[in-house]
Amino acid sequence: MRLIPATTLLWLASGCAALLALTSGCSRSTPGEPAGAAPVKKAKDHYVIGMSQCNLGEPWRVVMNANIKAAADKHPELKVVFKDAQNDTLQQRAHIEEFVSAGVALLIISPKEAQPLTEPVAKAMAAGIPVIVLDRRLLGDQYTCFIGADNKKIGHAAGQWIVKQLGGKGKVVELEGLMTSTPGQDRHAGFREAIAGTGIDVIFEADMKWLEPNARTEMESALARFDKIDLVYAHNDPGAHGAYLAAQAAGRDKQMLFVGIDGLPSEGQAYVRQGILSATFEYPTGGGEAIDTALKILHGEKVPKEIVLGSRLFTKDTIDHGGEALR
Ligand code: FRU
Repeated sequence: MRLIPATTLLWLASGCAALLALTSGCSRSTPGEPAGAAPVKKAKDHYVIGMSQCNLGEPWRVVMNANIKAAADKHPELKVVFKDAQNDTLQQRAHIEEFVSAGVALLIISPKEAQPLTEPVAKAMAAGIPVIVLDRRLLGDQYTCFIGADNKKIGHAAGQWIVKQLGGKGKVVELEGLMTSTPGQDRHAGFREAIAGTGIDVIFEADMKWLEPNARTEMESALARFDKIDLVYAHNDPGAHGAYLAAQAAGRDKQMLFVGIDGLPSEGQAYVRQGILSATFEYPTGGGEAIDTALKILHGEKVPKEIVLGSRLFTKDTIDHGGEALR
């Protein structure tokens, strides 16, 4: 039997690796490159991006994926593979691991919860895969770039608006987003800061975990316990709508105001036009910005660690003029 020289073996091995990368449609940066650095030195002609979405049960996340797809479709060199964790943290952890073993060129994640998703993302970074975190934060700094609006500022603006609307005093129900996720924590903290020292009294507070059916059930309890409720502040529009439906079923929807966050044209803004919500605060999905940022990273450009998106307030007075920007 003829022996194959070592150099030939090496050449064959590198050829196989290249072939594997091509057949799997993936290109990736060199493992071991420092986390956070622009890991892809030379522009390539084909990149697979893994997008890990925590849940597609709410319209806002469907819009986020559509925004990502629309932006990526303008760049033929990009292919985005979407995975939906169906609101299951363990499934989302598994999705990250799958993307890492598939060797995607870059990862976008909109995580369900901060703590449990921090470690798999840190491992992706350690494997040389840049990661863009969208909308909900992780713990620590093991990611390439975070993109999202300022939830504390939105919560604060909601609080200020509510104080003004109720003339400085009133009984309020707060329906919170998942409190193990950072937007829930920040929308709560900003709101509480704004109402501190005023006559606004939060008489009922519950975690509806971003979900309309939960918000409806929690609101039924609030209605059963309190005869007088002036306003419901929900951390998202599905929550505010669930509360409205509960109040409507009890014949009490006209006695109180409803305020939400997200402000999608087809959801929150439509509710404002219909007179269901008194106000909604825009929470941009960041899908387009994620693709712009991904391209920069893939081309070896430096990107900021944080990209903060703006927000707008929509009320019946401002909605026809496109709302009002938060300052
Ligand atoms: C959708 C959603 C939005 C909310 C965002 C916060 O899952 O609940 O309604 O603004 O997530 O991360």
